[in-house]
Amino acid sequence: MVGKVYIVGAGPGKKDLITLRAYELIKRADVILHDELIGEVAELLKESKAEIVNVGKRSGKHRKKQEEINEMLVEYAKQGKTVVRLKGGDPCIFGRGGEEAEYLARNGIPFEFVPGVTSAIAVPANVGIPITHRRYDPAVVFITGRESRERLNWEALARLNATIVILMGVARIPEISKLLIEHGKSPDTPVAVIENGFSENQRVIVTKLADLTNKAEEEKIKAPAVIVIGNVVELFNFLSGFIQTL
Ligand SMILES: C[S@@+](CC[C@H](N)C(=O)[O-])C[C@H]1O[C@@H](n2cnc3c(N)ncnc32)[C@H](O)[C@@H]1O
Repeated sequence: MVGKVYIVGAGPGKKDLITLRAYELIKRADVILHDELIGEVAELLKESKAEIVNVGKRSGKHRKKQEEINEMLVEYAKQGKTVVRLKGGDPCIFGRGGEEAEYLARNGIPFEFVPGVTSAIAVPANVGIPITHRRYDPAVVFITGRESRERLNWEALARLNATIVILMGVARIPEISKLLIEHGKSPDTPVAVIENGFSENQRVIVTKLADLTNKAEEEKIKAPAVIVIGNVVELFNFLSGFIQTL
């Protein structure tokens, strides 16, 4: 009998921010294929009897290609196994969960998405930036730094009164800031970059859009980081002093 694949969100890296359903599935899976960016959740994998495969790990210069991962999921499921495909944050926010689901469906494999707490919301909240607040913009736009140059309508984005949350954007900071300003976004818009959220190495850099490129260079900002562009970032100054995250 064919097994089932659970495409599971591991949350933003703290083990107590994983869902109960995900935790239960980790414990009863036959095989777990996980990405590199799962933080402390890696510790929970020790409680599982499953075969654990780190598909995000580089062996030499090689990291498993998406096609290889898709094929592994299908093969394990065909062996009748309960497969957990564990991904950072939420599997459907820039996590390729959709692509894997499509491949499984094409191969007749049953699957389920198990949502996770996305870094796009949780990483800013954890430092004192709630990405929506009634006094500020009435919308949020999540964008990926990858491929966005060609595929995004920058004019519409710059004009929209929305908070912009960027994932995988560190390498594209100069380009993104330039495009937004060129298309009319105010250079004074506050920006926060939160690097290594939920870890001991967490850093928050607050600046304004016009200064973002220089600041990112000066501070040597590295991935993974969530970038928040919008007036709601103003709240950081007030709220961060009162945040207690322990
Ligand atoms: C491939 S995307 C996956 C996002 C994931 N599906 C989610 O919902 O959080 C990876 C990007 O998420 C962001 N990210 C994930 N975890 C993070 C963390 N702990 N701190 C800062 N950024 C993080 C970074 O922008 C990183 O480049």
